[in-house]
Amino acid sequence: MFPRYLMNFDLNSTSADITDFVVIGSGIAGMYCALHLSAYGRVLVISKDKFPDGSSLYAQGGIAAAVGKEDSPAIHLRDTLAAGAGVCNLKAVKILTEQGPAHIKKLMEIGVPFDQKANSICLTREGAHSIPRILHAGGDATGKIICQVLAEKLASTANIYVLENTMAVDLLSQEGQCTGVLVLSKEGRPYPIYSRAVVLASGGIGQLYEKTTNPPGATGDGIAMAARMGAGTIHMEFVQFHPTMLDHENLQGFLISEAVRGEGAVLRNDKGESFMPKYHALADLAPRDIVTRAIYSEMARGSSKGNSPKVYLDATGFARDFFKRRFPTIYNTCNQLGINPSSDMIPVTPGAHYLMGGIETDTWGRTSIKGLFACGEVACNGASGANRLASNSLLECLVFGYRTAKAASCQYEARTPKIKPLTLKYTGQNTARVTKAKLQEYDRQLKKSMQTNVGVIRDARGLNSQMKFLKRLFPLLLSELGSREGLELQNKIIVSYLITQGALTRKTSCGAHYRSDAQSSSQSSDKQGITPSKMH
Ligand code: FAD
Ligand code: SIN
Repeated sequence: MFPRYLMNFDLNSTSADITDFVVIGSGIAGMYCALHLSAYGRVLVISKDKFPDGSSLYAQGGIAAAVGKEDSPAIHLRDTLAAGAGVCNLKAVKILTEQGPAHIKKLMEIGVPFDQKANSICLTREGAHSIPRILHAGGDATGKIICQVLAEKLASTANIYVLENTMAVDLLSQEGQCTGVLVLSKEGRPYPIYSRAVVLASGGIGQLYEKTTNPPGATGDGIAMAARMGAGTIHMEFVQFHPTMLDHENLQGFLISEAVRGEGAVLRNDKGESFMPKYHALADLAPRDIVTRAIYSEMARGSSKGNSPKVYLDATGFARDFFKRRFPTIYNTCNQLGINPSSDMIPVTPGAHYLMGGIETDTWGRTSIKGLFACGEVACNGASGANRLASNSLLECLVFGYRTAKAASCQYEARTPKIKPLTLKYTGQNTARVTKAKLQEYDRQLKKSMQTNVGVIRDARGLNSQMKFLKRLFPLLLSELGSREGLELQNKIIVSYLITQGALTRKTSCGAHYRSDAQSSSQSSDKQGITPSKMH
């Protein structure tokens, strides 16, 4: 279906690096996994941009774990399953919720300063949590602070080496086992790295969409690489759209955390009405998929008259200075744009945020390919079902990052490395030159069409039209584009295809996958059966 490699490369032509373990990605999953792998051998962490990077750096709301007195893993499990709309893997959710608190303790031991009040950890609420259980740091800078602490820990740990500004291009294999990775150095030089196990921790796919909260590197490279190698993927149709991305012409993709609603803010339509109680019993703290569709519905109401009416987040009822203290990053960013969250409503719109699906793994991060492991957002062990519970992702990075390290370390002991140079067999035939301007135009079209046809609301007509569009782009997969931009576009085409195919195959609505042309089978049912018209 897809070409095996994106680069034509003779492995004999250059020297190779050899290590015990390669971890692709320096987000929280990659760093936490590398930390635990370092007890078993030399670990090379590869980061496409500056180390550390990824969505992890931008996480605002926090990390969910049953650490409160009134809480328990059983309640956390119940909430996760309810948000997941009947598609969660019970075993994975049990592991996540039961083992989560121990990893929070470990994070604190290595120096993560979770916010505290009167000597006890502050816990907040987010959508679909029945109890406050979200730990946070620096108010709304949780991801940045955890990344800083982990990065410092990695820097002081023997056996861990970091290659930043280096892009993994293709996974290498021999006799059906993963044996390493071909990378593009920051100077644009391709070379192979051989290892006994490869861990993909390469994050999400938000950049497939026009509107996203994800950073520029979230282009689905890991999923595309694994799919080219023949690894299984699953639940690709489940793309979560965060309801409240800032809607401002001068700043794209900035998130307004769900924790703002957790602290009491409400969504209002252009008439000033608080509309969420109409849609779900949990009102503003309903599961994310429900809130996103409710916002679409409100926006669709006036769209026939021209511009869609705006939706706002209203935190003006907060006590004086509370917003500034509790959400300093959001407060300062809004202020720079002339919005004072203490007195002004914040315009918001949904944006592609998180992929529940991904490379299929078991609960030890093992993929269908021997020697290839995956953890974090790139992986799918079913813990998020059809709709991830807020702030469970960072917990997943820890719990399954750790378990993946344990499994990969066994691989190290069990395998005799048989490393011999190979010549990659590239099936490319298309030699037509693709200019940078053309690449950018294809990218723009891809994002726009994914937003329209495979976005929040889907139907067979849009999905079939997207399939046709993607197939027209397939010849590009056979061109040796070589640059980071070109390789990312090729990966995006492959991942878009997998998402569209999943969405076409699942004919009923479920969690974040909403088909306007089908009956809902979702457990997280809306009060009003929301059927907004498709919006761009
Ligand atoms: P990432 O942190 O995305 O890291 C991916 C890494 O892979 C990066 O280092 C990247 O450079 C590297 N990479 C990718 N491709 C390649 C390649 N080809 N070669 C080399 N390296 C590559 N979740 C929560 O639980 N709580 C929150 O409060 C929260 N807030 C969020 C706020 C925002 C704005 C966003 C975008 C997400 C938020 N999430 C939150 C989701 C969560 O942050 C992510 O799901 C999680 O951080 C993913 O971690 P990761 O380690 O799997 O991947
Ligand atoms: C947020 O802060 O709203 C994001 C939380 C998440 O993605 O889980």
